[in-house]
Amino acid sequence: MIKIKSFLYLFFCMSALTGSVFAAETGNETGTLKPNLQAGKKTYELCATCHYANGWGKEDGSFPVIAGQHASVIKKQLADFRHRDRENPTMFPFTDNETLGGAQGIEDVTAYIAQLPVNPSPGKGDGKKLEQGKKLFAEKCAVCHGAQAEGNEAAIFPRLQGQHYGYLLRQLKWIRDGLRKNANAGMLEQIKGMDDETLASIADYISTIEVVAPVSETVKSSGADGVSTPDTEKKVEAATEEEPDCD
Ligand code: HEC
Ligand code: HEC
Repeated sequence: MIKIKSFLYLFFCMSALTGSVFAAETGNETGTLKPNLQAGKKTYELCATCHYANGWGKEDGSFPVIAGQHASVIKKQLADFRHRDRENPTMFPFTDNETLGGAQGIEDVTAYIAQLPVNPSPGKGDGKKLEQGKKLFAEKCAVCHGAQAEGNEAAIFPRLQGQHYGYLLRQLKWIRDGLRKNANAGMLEQIKGMDDETLASIADYISTIEVVAPVSETVKSSGADGVSTPDTEKKVEAATEEEPDCD
C-alpha cells in the first residue's frame, strides 16, 4: 500500500510540474472529445446563477464576463480553481466532477460558453486616464493579450476585450500582490511595480476597446437575457454561503 501511495504521490507531483494533470483532466489533448452544446447548455444553467444566462456577468465586475472567452482559457481556469491554483471560494464549489461531468462535461460546458455572443458594453472606469492606459497596454500587455486585447486560444492568453473594468482591476491587483497563484511570470514582471492608479488606467482603457466577436463565434444572440432579479440575487447569496444546490 505504502508503495502505491508514494507512487501516486510521485505521479501527482510530476504531473503537476509538467501540467499533465490539466491535460488528463480536460481529457482532450488529442482532440478526440466532441462537445455537445445541448448538454453544455444544461450544465450552464447552474453557472447562469452568477454569470447570467448570456454569460455577461455583472457590470460591477463581481462576476466576470465569460461569454466568448477562448475555450483553452476557460478549461485552464476551471482546472486551476479546482486545484486551488487560483484561490476563489465562490467558484471552487462549481468545479468538481459531479458538477461539471468529467472530461466530456467540461468540454460541453466550455464549448457552450465559448460560443455565447460577447458583451458589447462591459462596465467601465472613470475614463480619466485613458491615454496613459492605452500607452501602457500597447507597451506592456499587447505582446501577449493582442493589440485589441483579443487574447490567443493556442497560447492560452485570455481575451480581455469586453471584460468589466471592476473585474480586470481586481485581477490585476491580485496578480501583482501574489494572490493569484496561476499568474503568468512574464505578466507579473510587467506589473509588479505598478500602483493601483496605474493598473486602474490600464483596466479602464481595456474596457473601452471596441468589442468584436471572436472569429469562431457562429451563434448570434439567441434571446438569452442576463436580467438580474431579486430572486437571482438571493440564489447567488445562498450559493456563496453553502453547498450548491445542483438541481
Ligand atoms: C456562486 C457564483 C458562481 C457560480 C455559480 C459560478 N461562478 Fe464562475 N466565477 C464566479 C466568480 C466570482 C468568478 C471570479 C473569481 C475571481 O474573481 O477570481 C468566476 C470566474 C469564472 C471563470 C474565470 C473567468 C476568467 O476570466 O478567468 C470561469 C471560466 C467560470 N467562472 C466558469 C464558471 C462555470 C463553467 C460555472 C458553472 C459550472 C460557474 N463559473 C459558476 C462566480 C460563480
Ligand atoms: C508574457 C505574457 C503576458 C503579458 C506580458 C501580460 N499578460 Fe496578462 N495574462 C497572461 C496569461 C497567460 C494570463 C492567464 C494566467 C492564468 O490564469 O493562467 C493572464 C491573465 C491576465 C488577466 C486576468 C484575466 C482573467 O480573465 O482573469 C488580466 C486582467 C491581465 N492578464 C491583464 C494584463 C495586463 C493589463 C498586462 C500588461 C500590463 C498583461 N496582462 C501582460 C499573459 C500575459
